[in-house]
Amino acid sequence: MDLLLLEKTLVGSFVAILVAIVVSKLRGKRFKLPPGPLPVPVFGNWLQVGDDLNHRNLADLAKKFGDILLLRMGQRNLVVVSSPDLAKEVLHTQGVEFGSRTRNVVFDIFTGKGQDMVFTVYGEHWRKMRRIMTVPFFTNKVVQQYRYEWEEEAAQVVEDVKKNPEAATHGIVLRRRLQLMMYNNMYRIMFDRRFESEEDPLFNKLKALNGERSRLAQSFDYNYGDFIPILRPFLRGYLKICKEVKERRLQLFKDYFVEERKKLGSTKSMSNEGLKCAIDHILDAQKKGEINEDNVLYIVENINVAAIETTLWSIEWGIAELVNHPEIQKKLRDELDTVLGPGHQVTEPDTNKLPYLNAVIKETLRLRMAIPLLVPHMNLHDAKLGGFDIPAESKILVNAWWLANNPAQWKNPEEFRPERFFEEEAKVEANGNDFRYLPFGVGRRSCPGIILALPILGITLGRLVQNFELLPPPGQSKIDTSEKGGQFSLHILKHSTIVAKPRSF
Ligand code: HEM
Repeated sequence: MDLLLLEKTLVGSFVAILVAIVVSKLRGKRFKLPPGPLPVPVFGNWLQVGDDLNHRNLADLAKKFGDILLLRMGQRNLVVVSSPDLAKEVLHTQGVEFGSRTRNVVFDIFTGKGQDMVFTVYGEHWRKMRRIMTVPFFTNKVVQQYRYEWEEEAAQVVEDVKKNPEAATHGIVLRRRLQLMMYNNMYRIMFDRRFESEEDPLFNKLKALNGERSRLAQSFDYNYGDFIPILRPFLRGYLKICKEVKERRLQLFKDYFVEERKKLGSTKSMSNEGLKCAIDHILDAQKKGEINEDNVLYIVENINVAAIETTLWSIEWGIAELVNHPEIQKKLRDELDTVLGPGHQVTEPDTNKLPYLNAVIKETLRLRMAIPLLVPHMNLHDAKLGGFDIPAESKILVNAWWLANNPAQWKNPEEFRPERFFEEEAKVEANGNDFRYLPFGVGRRSCPGIILALPILGITLGRLVQNFELLPPPGQSKIDTSEKGGQFSLHILKHSTIVAKPRSF
């Protein structure tokens, strides 16, 4: 930090302390707040707890302060919920009260201040967006329409990997090819489009802009300007980059996908409902005046962030666990061979007949939860939770990872053991039927994409294990499964090289 910046920061902090003291004296309102570390003026608990409020650090704080705790992050209140009962209260019983989302300066930019669906407050706009998105994305009809294409994409992955001689010897970064597959799975639904190869320039442009958006939004680097509004001017450079990325990205969605589809619509008769892809439905809603052009682009933006990487991270974690647990991989392969017989490649309807495959997926989503703190919830008004007062507009983090990894609730939770879902946890499903296990959340703001994510995971992991023996690279007995967390994501730190040895049938 240069001297000028330091001076400004100190002056800023001094003024902010004075303001905070005056405001707190004037307010005189007495809340029974949840426990937490003692805050200091201006910074609150920020300097004590640091930036990296990941699922593990928050679980440690819960052990110290309890199942509901409050952190003051500068001017912001952050409430962490760590028990199934309190999760039920937030997501179900008081689902309306806690059904909004917090945004921050960066998310305001990327969502046009909540013109999207994922980050908007609970209310009319959210209801309308969720309704408009349901038919084109989140029904079993969509699964039945697109499952052949997901199966085809997975078959292409298998074929490409088999063609690559490196794969069976030194190994390849399998994730790269799977990323192309996930883009294709989702772009086929959205626009009836696919990208031919990892070298496709449009795919690379899109990937780079999506990656940049994720990096900027997930970073902890802008926290100071979010927590302490007086420091916001120092974020000017960061926010300028965010705005540029956002503009370029939405323009790309518009020019290369939405407008292209509109042109096609005007030249080709689209009267046949069966030929409609998601954007046609969304554009119909725009024509009817239900949403505007910006909302259309934010829907595309939301699918790009909510659907592709989340599913990809889960596939990547699944592969990593299968590589590191060869006995589980073998058991899964045996199930596939026995149930499906030689030569039959797993399809979406088959996934219902493969309990061990489903258990492997559930266990992956439990131990390596892609969104371990859910997407932050928020109460628009003052509320009560667990006997405490929750000030309006608090950010509520449900530590779903800890709910599913707390040794007081689960037998040896640190172990990757799919069998638990046949044994002591036989009744637990991924749809939120048990408040200890919420990989997709539950209730009003739960993940509507679960209906697509689970079959895609089943088809992809199933076909990989059917066709290859997945191994660590030569000279390694395991692959590195260190985690990397962001504002609310959990992915693998290193995209490992995996050896994929084709099986001889
Ligand atoms: C394994 C893959 C996925 C995981 C683990 C996952 C997980 C989640 C979680 C935890 C939430 C937040 C729930 C809450 O805040 O209470 C969420 C929200 C959401 N997800 Fe997913 N998701 C996945 C895939 C998808 C896919 C494939 C789509 C779309 C095609 C999708 C679309 C959404 C949307 C739109 C929301 C926001 C819902 C709202 O705010 O009303 N997700 N997801």
